[in-house]
Amino acid sequence: MRIISNFLGEGRSQFVRDSHQKTKNRSEQNWYIGRYVNAGIMAHVIATTNMKGGVGKTTLCVNLAASLARNFGKRVLVVDLDTQISGTLSLMSPQEFVKCRKERRTLRQLISQTVDSSAEQIHDTAGAIRPYICEQKGLSLLPGDLDLYDDYMVSSFLHEQANADDADHDFQTAWEKLERTLVKGILEPVQNDYDFIILDCAPGYNLLTRSSFVASDFYLLPAKPEPLSIAGIQLLQRRIERLRQGYEDSEPIKIELLGIVFTMSGNLFTSRYYNQVMKRVQQDYSEQQIFKTQIPNDAQVSRAVDSFKPVILSNPTATGAKAFAKLTEEFLQKLEILTGTKEQKSRMSLSQME
Ligand SMILES: Nc1ncnc2c1ncn2[C@@H]1O[C@H](COP(=O)(O)OP(=O)(O)OP(=O)(O)O)[C@@H](O)[C@H]1O
Ligand SMILES: [Mg+2]
Repeated sequence: MRIISNFLGEGRSQFVRDSHQKTKNRSEQNWYIGRYVNAGIMAHVIATTNMKGGVGKTTLCVNLAASLARNFGKRVLVVDLDTQISGTLSLMSPQEFVKCRKERRTLRQLISQTVDSSAEQIHDTAGAIRPYICEQKGLSLLPGDLDLYDDYMVSSFLHEQANADDADHDFQTAWEKLERTLVKGILEPVQNDYDFIILDCAPGYNLLTRSSFVASDFYLLPAKPEPLSIAGIQLLQRRIERLRQGYEDSEPIKIELLGIVFTMSGNLFTSRYYNQVMKRVQQDYSEQQIFKTQIPNDAQVSRAVDSFKPVILSNPTATGAKAFAKLTEEFLQKLEILTGTKEQKSRMSLSQME
């Protein structure tokens, strides 16, 4: 078992000690400590998402993952949920990807095994994961695919589920069940093997994105400082709120905003405009919800894709790489604060039950 203080630093174990002293009831105490121990061994699942395309979701996902592994010694899994496979091709060459695809070691195989009863069970989740990706210790990838699922197959699966003899649910319930379990079911077997699982979501709002939200503890929202990108933030937040309401009466979902990250921030010509947009965001969101570190527009960041490695690994002294390293520190600090708050909230609701 890993030691709690190893996870996010001494602060966390201090928090455990404090709470241990404050809790009065023994069963509550055990439950509470158990939550922390679990939190210590189970990965935090983080979705990088924005409804809008081209805002830097994938670049943030792979650089944050690489930085957590390289600079902080964390065990990190990147999951590529986008059929554009940009995340996969940011971490491996097309030749390697073709090999993975031939061996059916991609997310597609795992999804098929869930939604197609006739699919051969070839790999479990661990078997589809590529460890030591980019030759970086601690960094792993669950490769995406050019098609992740077939709409027709999903519809017939849901139809089958809803019409099975022993079915106690209708089509809508079958749909919700799939949304709730698809990504969660794929991640669960490996959740103890990582400190972080970072999901690279496609733009828009498809089944996999919703299912990722249900499986996630937090989401990171990269945004370009432009009005349309800001509209993307608001749209996404509304959708997540609706998703949350939909699950309120069954199994409440945990996902919370970890923060908005401004990406591709401008040069001298655009900085005035950038500042105007930033001001608008600051009016709508609290200081804690916006990362202080911004990722500058840096050609080295996009060029890194040619080496099939994120800039943080291929050129760690580049301006963009340094910004990602700084962002990672802020990410860990925010996470520590938010996980503490989450646990305190759970504890409060537990004591209210008594
Ligand atoms: N900080 C940066 N500096 C320069 N170029 C960047 C930076 N961040 C991302 N890019 C480039 O911008 C483009 C879009 O980035 P990325 O693919 O990360 O966005 P995305 O939101 O994942 O896109 P999509 O919605 O298509 O999945 C890419 O060509 C990427 O290399
Ligand atoms: Mg992307």
